[in-house]
Amino acid sequence: MCGIVGYLGHRQAYNILISGLHRLEYRGYDSAGVAVVNDDGSLEVCKAKGKVSNLEQAAAGVNLTGHLGIAHTRWATHGEPNNINAHPHLSQDGTLALVHNGTIENYAVIKQMLLDNGVEFTSETDTEVLVQFIAYIRNENGCTLFEAVTSALRQVEGAFAIGLIEVNNPDTLIVARKASPLVIGLGDGETFIASDATPIVGYTDKVIYLKDNEIALIKRDEELQILDLTDFHKSDIDIQEIKLSLAQLEKGGYDTFMLKEIFEQPTTLRDCLRGRIVEESSRIKLSGVELNRDVFAKCKRIVLVACGTSWHAALIGKRLLQDFCNLPVEVEYASEFRYSNPYLTPDDVVIAISQSGETADTLAAIQLARQKGAFVYGVCNVVGASIPRNTDSGTYIHVGPEIGVASTKAFTGQVTVLTLLALAVGQLRGTVSPDTVKEIADGLSSLPETIEEVLKLSPRIKELSNIFTYARNFLYLGRGYNYPTALEGALKLKEISYIHAEGYPAAEMKHGPIALIDQEMPSVIIAPSDSLYDKVISNVQQVKSRGGHVLAIVSKGNTSMDNIADYCLDIPEVHECLTPIVASIPLQLLAYYIAINKGKNVDMPRNLAKSVTVE
Ligand code: G6P
Repeated sequence: MCGIVGYLGHRQAYNILISGLHRLEYRGYDSAGVAVVNDDGSLEVCKAKGKVSNLEQAAAGVNLTGHLGIAHTRWATHGEPNNINAHPHLSQDGTLALVHNGTIENYAVIKQMLLDNGVEFTSETDTEVLVQFIAYIRNENGCTLFEAVTSALRQVEGAFAIGLIEVNNPDTLIVARKASPLVIGLGDGETFIASDATPIVGYTDKVIYLKDNEIALIKRDEELQILDLTDFHKSDIDIQEIKLSLAQLEKGGYDTFMLKEIFEQPTTLRDCLRGRIVEESSRIKLSGVELNRDVFAKCKRIVLVACGTSWHAALIGKRLLQDFCNLPVEVEYASEFRYSNPYLTPDDVVIAISQSGETADTLAAIQLARQKGAFVYGVCNVVGASIPRNTDSGTYIHVGPEIGVASTKAFTGQVTVLTLLALAVGQLRGTVSPDTVKEIADGLSSLPETIEEVLKLSPRIKELSNIFTYARNFLYLGRGYNYPTALEGALKLKEISYIHAEGYPAAEMKHGPIALIDQEMPSVIIAPSDSLYDKVISNVQQVKSRGGHVLAIVSKGNTSMDNIADYCLDIPEVHECLTPIVASIPLQLLAYYIAINKGKNVDMPRNLAKSVTVE
């Protein structure tokens, strides 16, 4: 979703801003823009609809030579994606330029007040309202720019991360945040700002994650000041080290980030598991559980909250926690949970799952759960993101930066961590036998090799993708642990190929979707040799007898599907609870190759965003 980059230092700002925007492209956006305070004292703005490369073309003849600037990738919320609505936005007198992530909920009231006072607007955005409001306060009250910004931000409702610069002031950059992330990078005589650390990598490894309701005044050659917007007390400056490398942000020889990330899974799962299975597989060690033994020993219920692919991981997590911890477990969409007045007590543990750690709905669900006294545990990928900083404890999945918008390695990392978590909590509560822990832990330890084996199916899946690219609708069916795998397989296909796909519990198919089945609508069946295999077979027969084509994911060595399904893909046999991780790999590849056949941009699918910072 929207991305901010800013620079104040001794280098040409424009180059750093453009390279930063490229690094933020993965978040998803539909227009981009840049503003630089030029060395001649002017403030120049350039914007373009579409990709950052369009912005670069538009900027070719424009004077953007200065050492202070801000830039933005916009994912439209207020007003269509076009040059006018793209950021940065200027105040009417042209003195201020602002980039903004988030949404200002009371923008209409403020806009009306400004219109009544003669202010004119050029765009439809809430961001222009904010910059005009800041300029208005400054002019009305004769205060400093910093005072005007703090006053405006105290009056707006909603979420924001902002970067603001002023004409004729090449030495000052103002940033602030509430519920939308912002990172400050501290270099040698230079300061970077960005929505996440990726644009900063390679320039400095020292960063400050601005906290909610903080505003920072960045001045050339002066000490950084950070204040709390609510009471203006000086905030402590907590400098952290980022451990990302440039190599992690590049494609490493693959055509796309998505393919790289699919093929990286043996390595990412090895990283995810490192140090967490100990004593020859007889014990699971998660520090988040060990440090909170009392909480997990006494808890009476677990509620999992998440969005998108992370919600599918949560559905698998529910099964794992039920099976190994003997606890009631619920799964909620974070966006529904936050407005549902949920019943929660201090005996509940809420587990929030998020790859980015910035999803606005998940963050709000966490805040609500904490207000209600529940203990909140995060399962997150991005180190230092808002969710891990706002939870009581948690576990990182450690799969490295995921750039492809459609989640792949983060999903398998999330399910792996949820498996470890369920076993660790079950061990603590005495609800899982040591033999079961050992059996599953052995299976987890072998996952990297198991997945290497599955990835060898890639050429066959590529071939099959040619057969299926014609389809306009798909059905994905699975049962038990693999009902969520079916949902995730369908979501992958929708996200990147724009083919309509529905995931369904296989047995539920006869209560509706069966009406859709004909020769034009293929079904993908996830049918490893598990406790529900025989039941799934009869569901497949129901599809076949209505003329539907079937592609089945089955366990190697089980040939009974060969005469029923049209095509079978064999995956290694693993413990039932690990089948979603293994079976999701061919589904990722199938979606990938179908989307490539259709000529789609798999890394940046239309309308989608990687980091969803608006509700
Ligand atoms: C977006 C992404 C999805 C992701 C979802 C939740 O929609 O495109 O891939 O699953 O957000 O994001 P999170 O970062 O909280 O896992």
